Amino acid sequence: MGRTIIVSNRLPVKVAKDENGKLRYKSSEGGLATGLGSVYKDGDNIWVGWPGFHFDNEEEEKEAAAKLKLENMKPVALTEEEIELYYEGFSNETLWPTFHYFNQNALYKKSYWQAYEEVNHKFCKEVVEVANPDDTIWVHDYQLLLLPGLIREKLPSVSIGFFLHIPFPSFEVFRLLPWRRQLLDGVLGSDLIGFHTYDDMRHFLSAVSRICFISNQHGQLNKDGRTVEVDSFPMGIDYEKYANSSASPQTLSREVKFRTSLGAQKLMLSIDRLDYSKGIPARLEIFDLFFQKYPEYLGKVSLMMVVVPSRDNVEQYRGLKEEIDLLVGRINGKYGAVNWTPIHYFYRSFPLSDLSAYYRMADVALVTPMRDGMNLVCKEYVASRLDKQGVLILSEMAGASKELSEAIIVNPNDKHQVRDAIKRALEMTEEEQIRHMEIMQASLKKYNIHHWVKLFMDRLHDVFVKQKEMTTKLLDSTAEKTLIESFRKSDKKLLFLDYDGTLAPFNTDPTQAGPDEELHEIIKGLTKNKKNNVVVISGRDRNTLENWLGQHDIEFVAEHGVWIKHKGKAWETSDKLDNSWKDDIRPIMEIYVNKTPGSFIEEKDYSLVWHFRKVETGLGELRSREIISHLKYLAVNMNLQVLEGSMVVEIKNLEVNKGKAAMKWVQEKANDFILAIGDDATDEDTFKALPDQAFTIKVGDIHSAARFSLMEPKQVRNLLKQLI
Ligand code: UDP
Ligand code: G6P
Repeated sequence: MGRTIIVSNRLPVKVAKDENGKLRYKSSEGGLATGLGSVYKDGDNIWVGWPGFHFDNEEEEKEAAAKLKLENMKPVALTEEEIELYYEGFSNETLWPTFHYFNQNALYKKSYWQAYEEVNHKFCKEVVEVANPDDTIWVHDYQLLLLPGLIREKLPSVSIGFFLHIPFPSFEVFRLLPWRRQLLDGVLGSDLIGFHTYDDMRHFLSAVSRICFISNQHGQLNKDGRTVEVDSFPMGIDYEKYANSSASPQTLSREVKFRTSLGAQKLMLSIDRLDYSKGIPARLEIFDLFFQKYPEYLGKVSLMMVVVPSRDNVEQYRGLKEEIDLLVGRINGKYGAVNWTPIHYFYRSFPLSDLSAYYRMADVALVTPMRDGMNLVCKEYVASRLDKQGVLILSEMAGASKELSEAIIVNPNDKHQVRDAIKRALEMTEEEQIRHMEIMQASLKKYNIHHWVKLFMDRLHDVFVKQKEMTTKLLDSTAEKTLIESFRKSDKKLLFLDYDGTLAPFNTDPTQAGPDEELHEIIKGLTKNKKNNVVVISGRDRNTLENWLGQHDIEFVAEHGVWIKHKGKAWETSDKLDNSWKDDIRPIMEIYVNKTPGSFIEEKDYSLVWHFRKVETGLGELRSREIISHLKYLAVNMNLQVLEGSMVVEIKNLEVNKGKAAMKWVQEKANDFILAIGDDATDEDTFKALPDQAFTIKVGDIHSAARFSLMEPKQVRNLLKQLI
């Protein structure tokens, strides 16, 4: 088994010098470092990144490298110029503002871009130096957008994943970047590209389509002959770490100390890095508005505001610090009293036990960024509330708002709405607080950081395996000639034909998709020759298949293999299949039906299917991604599999698939010619199960495990006519 090499601009540990000139090592702040910091050491993984420090001499650099090596880290040293032009410059003065919709702050400087390219090359060199061909390389975040493409050039067949921790902006904003094409080409060097939310993924795919002219099917696209998959993976937190820390004696003693100095008043909490995307000045203005409208709260509630220093050499950040200092001073001067301070403001970072004590004490957490990829602070607050009390006010502009719908969700630009949300939060009954908190905790506990890593890595592995299997070529005239010759020479021919999208064109109304006269003629022609055994292998239910094609001398596989019918025999289901899971899954599918007009559930004997053919374009695809990831999560522990068909999502027992069904024919009869044609993911199982010499044909232009491809059902029919 290969290792995982994590690559990010910043290591989870940062180096600094103390007043005696000795090197010191501290945890890095920021969601990427705190999130992945808990899990990267599993196995003999390595983390490659910048230790956040400019070394004056080689001795120091070696000392730090040796120390970090003990923790499985490989530091990448940056020169002062690189820090200025690549890190502060292109990363944080060009990309960060653009990706957070502050494009008016973005600088487009050639010197920044050149340094960005150079440093991405530098990271590539470091990675290639340590990587083995069977390692998996997982690149993180906006500072290294070019890296997947650069690694791909050097190590063409290595598995590369990329995850973006910040929002991906809409195409209209992304297109403003002069280097937009190079940036996308860089990311597309990956096998799997992950985002926090579906919207980020949608924006990325739209940028790829408009700028690189590459379209996608359900998040799968084809770049230079390779399949690249794109999906959303909302990042979780190390739930146990925060829950345990909240109960630790150290945290409890910190809480007692803080409480003694604060008294009995209510407490609101905000914790952010110093960043204009976090909406800190707006939050302070809202706090002021709150006291103006609700003066009865004067003296009864304070805001504990932790601002962690960040990127302080970047001008926008320095200016922001001054603005915050002024606002805090103004509000404290305006409302403060001898025995009460409205805002307790800390401009520094804290150890976990202090943060946990703040989370425990806060009646309300005020998390109101203008834009945030995910925001882990709000999740940490929820995980720390062992008493299940406390209220979370959360900006809808944070990725986390898509998951934490039990929070009070606000638009941070609507200051009056947030002001009133504070009042509502402060007055919420204990029962209501507990009700919301319990739901959020259950979800965060389940979708924790370990789950996130597993989901991403398993998917990356799947994509990698698929890549290797997919070497499909167009069925050109030479290949067609070989196929026909081989067919003619054979005495016992087996033909597996999928129905929808293969024999018949895809129909938006599934009930109207029955065979036409031409198709009946083709099947009649094929079955006249007794050397041919035609098997229609479909996801459709057995009654429909029988009604449509029962008059022909053919055999059937229905419901992807649940039911099988041999000539002259009754339908049979060979495996004893459990159906009890349906009662758990049906209510979940119903939730999606309720929020997706036009979608419906079809119940087959051993599967449940969610159809979205009739749903408004865009919405159906959107919901299908949500339902797929929801069902896939549940499927893992229930011995179920989720199949993505054309405009359908189907869930069924893991033991059933078209490939297993096809094997019954292949094993039982000595066929000397096998042909299988199909158009969607469920047909891939058939292609994979058949012997290498079988002629397997995928309908559609996406890569497949099939040997050949055809564009549409019309071409399938033309081919079959030549076999009559
Ligand atoms: N954090 C920290 N020390 C502090 C304050 C915050 O390590 O003094 C951590 C916090 O616990 C959280 C991270 O910094 O895990 C901030 O992540 P978030 O996703 O909320 O925002 P980001 O900084 O990544 O934009
Ligand atoms: C965000 C970014 C990270 C970054 C962190 C701290 O979380 O997504 O990539 O490391 O902020 O910022 P810094 O510039 O200090 O690394």
